[in-house]
Amino acid sequence: MSSAAIIDGKSFAAALRGRIAASVPEFIAQSGRKPGLAVVLVGDDPASQVYVGSKKKATVEAGMDSFEYRLPEDTAQADLISLVERLNADDHVDGILVQLPLPPHMDDKAVIAALDPAKDVDGFHVVNAGRLAVGEDAFVPCTPLGCLMLLKDRIGDLSGKNAVVIGRSNIVGKPMAQLLLAENCTVTIAHSRTQDLAEVVRRADIIVAAVGRAEMVRGDWIKQGAVVIDVGINRLAPAPGETKGRLVGDVAFAEAVAHSAAITPVPGGVGPMTIACLLRNTLVAAHRRAG
Ligand code: GUN
Repeated sequence: MSSAAIIDGKSFAAALRGRIAASVPEFIAQSGRKPGLAVVLVGDDPASQVYVGSKKKATVEAGMDSFEYRLPEDTAQADLISLVERLNADDHVDGILVQLPLPPHMDDKAVIAALDPAKDVDGFHVVNAGRLAVGEDAFVPCTPLGCLMLLKDRIGDLSGKNAVVIGRSNIVGKPMAQLLLAENCTVTIAHSRTQDLAEVVRRADIIVAAVGRAEMVRGDWIKQGAVVIDVGINRLAPAPGETKGRLVGDVAFAEAVAHSAAITPVPGGVGPMTIACLLRNTLVAAHRRAG
């Protein structure tokens, strides 16, 4: 059995960010301003704080304006929607990202519906989801977009490949399936109720795992030569002597390496691509808005 190539999402994302940063001055020369991304965080979820901090740093490093809004946990939904509406109307703001999950007293759908679809760089608004589904130009959610870039870089033409997406979330699974379908893959969406998941996965040339369950996909489920994209980020319980448990994906990495042709590691695979794609979507939004 051969050993898989490790897909280096970190360096792919760094190169993409470099290309974006290199093209920002052209936008500034044309429009007289920087592209701007507004990020809204409600509450003090530690993981969300880390993500928002990374997004801000990457935005500024790319030469764009970052507008950050940190609202208290007990913010009224109407006040959050008012902020979104102000950002919709603000000419310096090209992209708006409302970090999810929102606190339990809020309705994510109502907040996302308030976004101007032209500034919805997360691709979560139903207008963008619908455009993606019918094959029109859309903002595509950043994580599946990053996964697709890694797959095309590795495989080239995806036409006719059997792709299995494990997970059916609106943020990853569903848009991932749409993107693969648009690339002419034969797509199966598997989920927690799928019967005989191992058999379904064994047919796949391409596996995208986005279920959020540590090391659920085992090595012997993977067809020899398949390409594996692991979206999961799960923290294991600390082993004796560790203060923090290890981060692992949804795929049992060490087992999968023996079966697959190529696989993304966790961390350092898909994660860095999400931020790079956010910057890409923001620059696209800026160019569209500047006409
Ligand atoms: N929470 C986890 N992932 C994401 C993401 O890509 N965008 C937003 N807005 N929230 C998230």
